[in-house]
Amino acid sequence: MGLFDGFKRKRNEERQELVNRAPQENEQANKDLVQDAAAVEAEAQAPSTDSGEAPKDTAAPEPASSITDAASAPTAPIATDTATEAFGESGDGAGEASTSEDTASKVENEADDSADEAATPLPEPKRTPIKPLSEKAPVTHAIGETKILAIINQKGGVGKSTTAINLAAALGTLNKAVLVVDLDPQGNTTSGLGVDKGQIEHDIYDVLLNELPVEEAIVPDVCEGLDLVPATINLAGAEVELVNEMARENRLKAALGALRGKYDYIFIDCPPALGLLTVNALVASDKLLIPIQCEFYALEGVTKLLDSMKRVKNALNPSLETFGVLLTMYDGRTQLSKQVADEVRNFFGSSVFTTIIPRTVRLSEAPSFGQPITEYDPKGKGAIAYTELAKEVIQRG
Ligand SMILES: Nc1ncnc2c1ncn2[C@@H]1O[C@H](COP(=O)(O)OP(=O)(O)O)[C@@H](O)[C@H]1O
Ligand SMILES: [Mg+2]
Repeated sequence: MGLFDGFKRKRNEERQELVNRAPQENEQANKDLVQDAAAVEAEAQAPSTDSGEAPKDTAAPEPASSITDAASAPTAPIATDTATEAFGESGDGAGEASTSEDTASKVENEADDSADEAATPLPEPKRTPIKPLSEKAPVTHAIGETKILAIINQKGGVGKSTTAINLAAALGTLNKAVLVVDLDPQGNTTSGLGVDKGQIEHDIYDVLLNELPVEEAIVPDVCEGLDLVPATINLAGAEVELVNEMARENRLKAALGALRGKYDYIFIDCPPALGLLTVNALVASDKLLIPIQCEFYALEGVTKLLDSMKRVKNALNPSLETFGVLLTMYDGRTQLSKQVADEVRNFFGSSVFTTIIPRTVRLSEAPSFGQPITEYDPKGKGAIAYTELAKEVIQRG
């Protein structure tokens, strides 16, 4: 027991506080945002829409109550009353249960490593220089078919942005050309990749509402192999402004269509709501990647998401499918995490990725340093998990 032990203990406590605080703050921010959006949308509902193309309940933002209720409803921990017919794969769930046990035990005891991690020094925050696309390093490999994947779940705080940043960066390090489109007005993915929102000239809002060619909004080389279309708070107005626009559900699809053949993967980081922005993502995507947090109410709201997916599939994007379901923030020390992982595998069957993302302090710290986990802590469990996920994504084709 020396002086240094006391110092380390204090730092550990400070870090733990940071980690405890971050998800709550994020959750609160999401709730506020959705409440604001719902209020503004309620006002905007009065003038009727021009095209009438969108099914009303698909286009309307999720009422704030659905998210706040999720946190307080006295229901069973895991809602299993979900519409199974929306999901072809769910039938083979029983066969998956054993896989989930195997995978769960692999990450068991690996979840919280804050004690070891706290001893290493923190790096300086990264500031990604914003340069024009013309200065981007040329892609040297042949691009096959571009896959456009929406990272979607209308619940906030389930790991969408963390997955967008870190899966995309991991694919970049595996020599794939990747673009992330930040479609959340909170812009967590934008800042998490070290891009200073104050320096951004054009964002996804300009693409959706000001007819800006998407190439002009791309910030190239935010990381190895990774480009970004950023979001700023401007985007908060898009949900309402899109309502009276022509082809309002197809804006993103039209924009990203121009980028097919230029990237191996395009990820869309969705906002925590089922409003018009999310509908744009559903229309623009080939497939969906659904992160599910290993926590209480894990499956709550999934019915609505699958319902929206079905409506968009029927009306606007017939080839839309689920690409995969990702278990996030898994804590191998808790029975709850294991239980949720089993429930999700029973429900979604083989759609669930074998890779599970553990809860680690480093993953929650990395965004404040503007770095993906593959740069911030390349040898840690978070980087390993997201690299494994990237390989699984490549395998799924
Ligand atoms: N695997 C993880 N381990 C620890 N913290 C995580 C992990 N994944 C996400 N977080 C933290 O949880 C909060 C919510 O994650 P985020 O990716 O922003 O969710 P969403 O985009 O779905 O709202 C953030 O503070 C993030 O840093
Ligand atoms: Mg997010």
